[in-house]
Amino acid sequence: MVIKTVGVVGAGTMGGGIAQLCAGRGFSAKLYDISKEILERAKERIEKSIDTGVTKGKITPEAAAKTKRSIAYVLRLEDLAAADIVIEAATENLGLKQEIFSRLDALVASERVIATNTSSLPVQEIGAKAKHPERILGVHFFNPPPVMKLVEMIRPPRLDEKHYQTAKKFALDLGKTVVEVKDVPGFIVNRVLRPYYIEAFRLLEAGKTTIKEMDEAVVKLGGVPMGPCALVDFIGMDVNLAVTSAIFDGLGRPERLKPAALQEQLVKLDYLGPKVGRGFYLYRNRRAAGENPEVLKILPPVKNRLPPEALWAHLKRAIRQEAEMLFNEGTATKEDINTAVRLGANFSKGPFEMSSDEENRNRDRHYFSAEK
Ligand code: 3HC
Repeated sequence: MVIKTVGVVGAGTMGGGIAQLCAGRGFSAKLYDISKEILERAKERIEKSIDTGVTKGKITPEAAAKTKRSIAYVLRLEDLAAADIVIEAATENLGLKQEIFSRLDALVASERVIATNTSSLPVQEIGAKAKHPERILGVHFFNPPPVMKLVEMIRPPRLDEKHYQTAKKFALDLGKTVVEVKDVPGFIVNRVLRPYYIEAFRLLEAGKTTIKEMDEAVVKLGGVPMGPCALVDFIGMDVNLAVTSAIFDGLGRPERLKPAALQEQLVKLDYLGPKVGRGFYLYRNRRAAGENPEVLKILPPVKNRLPPEALWAHLKRAIRQEAEMLFNEGTATKEDINTAVRLGANFSKGPFEMSSDEENRNRDRHYFSAEK
């Protein structure tokens, strides 16, 4: 199956980014959403990002114009019927995704692949009502899709091998590194990083650090581009909470993965990150411009302040323990878990590469015993 046209359902950050990526790699993309306003906002965001590429000299004005022309913005799902592959990137809601998949399954010829970009919902359940479940799989991109090198390929049990190979070749043609993972809640990256985000919220709730101190510690010691608070804002406080809740429920509600009360409160207050101009930080033109003073008022005063090394030791331990669990469950190899975390979240080291030497482990143990 030769793929030329890609249908994308949902013109939010991920859907828009996937359409931009496909168009930039020579595919023709049809981006669908339910309202003209959503599509206009997506077009503006995509074209601004393409223009930045021209300003930086990464692409020529001609190539930029061609990429822009390669994206059609459509208001009817029927307009995706002739696409060679369809990627669904709608809101993380099982009922909504099931409805979209039932409609796509009826619209798109049975030899074509339909993929979901779900972050955490079971792919098998998303396609449960489809007549052709053998062409349904997960193709999970990371934000921003044009930049992040990883794609997680999720194989639900009824998937036909030929469709898997078609989708895998497509992801490779997009320039991505592919890891294969079973249809388990959160797959690799979102599962392994879940306790990392939760631990960050708990450290704030316990008054052991501030937003800025924790982010600075993790950037400096963990070699990541953004600390956990900046990353939660970037992903979207609400999106991140929805993923945590889905994984928590999907794994039988284990205490360690329980969503933090602080995060639920921040979502209720609409502190959702750059898309609304405020989250943990305030944003101007989507760039962080200081901590959000309203969030600082909610946080308890800092007592028993932890030094940067101890903060990073807490977060690193959370990642490492979850990665061990995922590996022991037989979900993925250690190598794929390392690759996925490195390329899916731009960490400088994968979970099994962090604290691999004895000296580091002893130092980390010292921090935990010193806190008691
Ligand atoms: N589209 C296209 N290109 C983009 C872009 C976008 N939306 N955003 C950034 N870029 C490009 C920039 O043009 C720049 O390119 P250049 O190096 O060739 O000039 C490059 O990316 C770096 O961007 P900036 O210089 O503007 O800013 P940073 O150096 O701070 O990088 C970042 C931005 C790539 C977002 C970096 O901060 C990062 O890697 N953050 C971590 C992101 C992450 O962890 N994502 C995964 C989240 S989890 C997820 O998505 C799963 C989901 O299921 C929830």
